[in-house]
Amino acid sequence: MMIYVIAIVAGIAGFLFGFDEGVIAGALHLLHAQFGIDPFMEGVMTSAVPFGALFGALLAGRLVDALGRRWVLLCAALLFAIGAAFAAAANGIPMLSVARLVLGFAIGMASLVAPLYISESAPPEKRGMLVSIYQLAITLGILGAYLIALVFSDSWRAMFLFGAVPGVALFLGMHMLRDTPRWLVKQNRGAEARLAIASIRSLAPGDARVDAEIHEITRTADSERGKGTWAELFGPVARPALVVGIGLFLLQQLSGINAVIYYAPVVFREAGFDLSSVQLMATIGIGIVNVLMTVVGMGLIDRIGRRPLLIIGFCGAAVSLGMIAIAAATDAEALDILAFIGLVLYIASFAVSLGPLPWVMMSEIFPLNVRGLGMGAASLANWGFNFLVVFSFPLMVAHLGLGGVFAIYALVCVAGVVFAVRLVPETNGVALEDIERHLRSGQPLRTLKRAPAGRDGGILLSGGRV
Ligand code: BGC
Repeated sequence: MMIYVIAIVAGIAGFLFGFDEGVIAGALHLLHAQFGIDPFMEGVMTSAVPFGALFGALLAGRLVDALGRRWVLLCAALLFAIGAAFAAAANGIPMLSVARLVLGFAIGMASLVAPLYISESAPPEKRGMLVSIYQLAITLGILGAYLIALVFSDSWRAMFLFGAVPGVALFLGMHMLRDTPRWLVKQNRGAEARLAIASIRSLAPGDARVDAEIHEITRTADSERGKGTWAELFGPVARPALVVGIGLFLLQQLSGINAVIYYAPVVFREAGFDLSSVQLMATIGIGIVNVLMTVVGMGLIDRIGRRPLLIIGFCGAAVSLGMIAIAAATDAEALDILAFIGLVLYIASFAVSLGPLPWVMMSEIFPLNVRGLGMGAASLANWGFNFLVVFSFPLMVAHLGLGGVFAIYALVCVAGVVFAVRLVPETNGVALEDIERHLRSGQPLRTLKRAPAGRDGGILLSGGRV
């Protein structure tokens, strides 16, 4: 079905995201051997990806409304391929850092647009699962990078060059697809929007169901012609969505996920695993658990709902990070295994919940006219806090020890439980237009509910606007 083709093509962007994050874990020791990098340049080169992504997300938040979702993804695809070629050809660490900055820029653009592209094309009842394809692709990209590091274990150039392949695939795939019906309607391109809906839903363009969908999108879009502004994003209607969007990414990142993803072999070494072959195998094990549990999460997200899954994820992460903290704080060898079990449980809790949910929810909760801007702000939070964790991890370990650092991450997850209970709405099965109506009604976002079939459950009547 067309919607799966859309989700998979946009998902290639997620694969590239994960690949370019994970590839450094395997390449680092080869780069050290060849160039003798000092710790400062290592920090600069490693965090060039999240740093570049910050700016990519910032720019994409604007471009996505002005130029369209598809066009921005095409640009990102080109940058992925160019960045990979430059990284592979680098003559030293400065050039490699610049290439990684370009790759980061592409990731930042794609990380905002790909989930949006999927979410705006998906039917409400499958939206969570379809957007999670994006997160699954990220985890496959991370695992792919760890495996590529195993295959090309003596050539960092080959590792980086591999990233050009999915870049080209993304370009070709997006070239074949249309923009989303919602963006086309906003551009007054109704005929194209009709064709897009018909092809996504496998219906004839003249079908009444296509009419109904066009009508619904137009109704929402009509009431908000004009570009959304930052003032609107921070205004009373969109602010609750902004708090949830930024808060979820803050918590996702400060739970320490990328300390594990970027530095997994180091974490295993600090936790007591001395052999580097064991460290690499354990790292690949982490990559596999990350992929498998993301699949489990995809099965649950539209079934048990966003809120319960988020609360379960934060609880599991808090407990497992606590286990790692205790194990790492003691030198007892018997506890090394506790650290390993803790890490596996942490990755499992993350992948089933904290991984996909911020992406899914950021694509759902913002009103249409500030959706690009709001998602830009949420992505910015993702990359800003990602950068903070990746940059600070080595320093924090040096000062507090691995146990202290993971204890802090555990506390962040406890705060996450409170945040989820008090502020996060249940968006499962609610049409994007109904979420928007609810925001405009002025009721707390947290009280959003799915309208019972066949009658107005308060939500459809709550938006005095229409
Ligand atoms: C996060 C990334 C992280 C990945 C791990 C994503 O949702 O945003 O920063 O590396 O999950 O699977």
